[in-house]
Amino acid sequence: MQNSVTVIAPVNIAVIKYWGKRNESLILPINDSLSVTLSTADLCSKTTISADPSYESNQIILNGKEENFENERILRCFEMIKQRALEAESCPKELLDCKIHVDSENNFPTAAGLASSASGYACLVYGMAQLYSLKKQEISDIARMGSGSACRSIYGGFVQWQKGVELDGNDSMAVQIAPASHWPDLNVLILVVNDSKKKVGSTSGMARSVVTSELIKYRVEKCVPQRIHSITQAIKDRDFPKFAELTMRDSNQFHAICLDTFPPCVYMNDVSHAIVSYIHEFNKNEGETKVAYTFDAGPNACLYLPEKYVKRVLSFINHVFPNDNQESVEYIRGTPVELENEENDFS
Ligand code: DP6
Repeated sequence: MQNSVTVIAPVNIAVIKYWGKRNESLILPINDSLSVTLSTADLCSKTTISADPSYESNQIILNGKEENFENERILRCFEMIKQRALEAESCPKELLDCKIHVDSENNFPTAAGLASSASGYACLVYGMAQLYSLKKQEISDIARMGSGSACRSIYGGFVQWQKGVELDGNDSMAVQIAPASHWPDLNVLILVVNDSKKKVGSTSGMARSVVTSELIKYRVEKCVPQRIHSITQAIKDRDFPKFAELTMRDSNQFHAICLDTFPPCVYMNDVSHAIVSYIHEFNKNEGETKVAYTFDAGPNACLYLPEKYVKRVLSFINHVFPNDNQESVEYIRGTPVELENEENDFS
């Protein structure tokens, strides 16, 4: 009876953003989203889970601090995994009866303020699935119940979260549209922008947008379906300028919705806006689109760019944000990543 596993799960950064739920408790989104799962070396969560008959209660430690296991999202993931393992008879009943201890940590620099819920929940659910010998294909919807964006971190490479149409959410899950090996040349630079302001969390921010933003309806109906279609084609064709334009437009529209929310959710700061201007200026001066930006619910920029331009873009960034300046930015580099046991049938 295996009673301890350690797993790692990477972050993913969306190029077509998930923003808004049609069902809060089942975490069902109002639109499809698409992301790239990034190299585990620099940005990932690592989780060890053990089950033992001697444990008296379930316990979870996140980044060295004990958290409440009774948290609705954690508990729901745990119950769903156990239920599925019971149905699949994938592990001994005695193991399912044991309490578990979870120890999870993120390796991101604390200052980065990068969304960790995607890799955190993906890691937790994947670890539990390993403990109870469930297959990976069976858990994307459970990771979604932890945090929406986590369902995309269950797969490597280029991943689409299909919103689905079923009321119970059975068809709302992530699928890989291309493995990392399809476009290994694509690099990512995450520019860590210092920011001390407290932001509205994604969960409450998007709930507020759904209720108050007019623009969000337009985006969901008129923009996202076409964008998902076009960016999938751009990925298949490895068409960087097209991929880049769609990524930047979607990031801008997402933040426009945040400002259209009432009261508004302000995630980008002056440095973030300066980065947007510099990237457009850089692409214009180069005579072609060599780099794209995207921003999640925070001020940090995520730049997508072909490998051959990394050096040039970094020297440009260091030039516009010199180290002695208060507005200096640090960066983390990554590439799309493949995950263990991934079967690639992409052609
Ligand atoms: C801006 O997945 O953190 O990063 O489902 O409420 O846990 P919950 O939200 P979360 O939202 C992520 C929003 C985003 C865009 C994206 O990753 O697609």
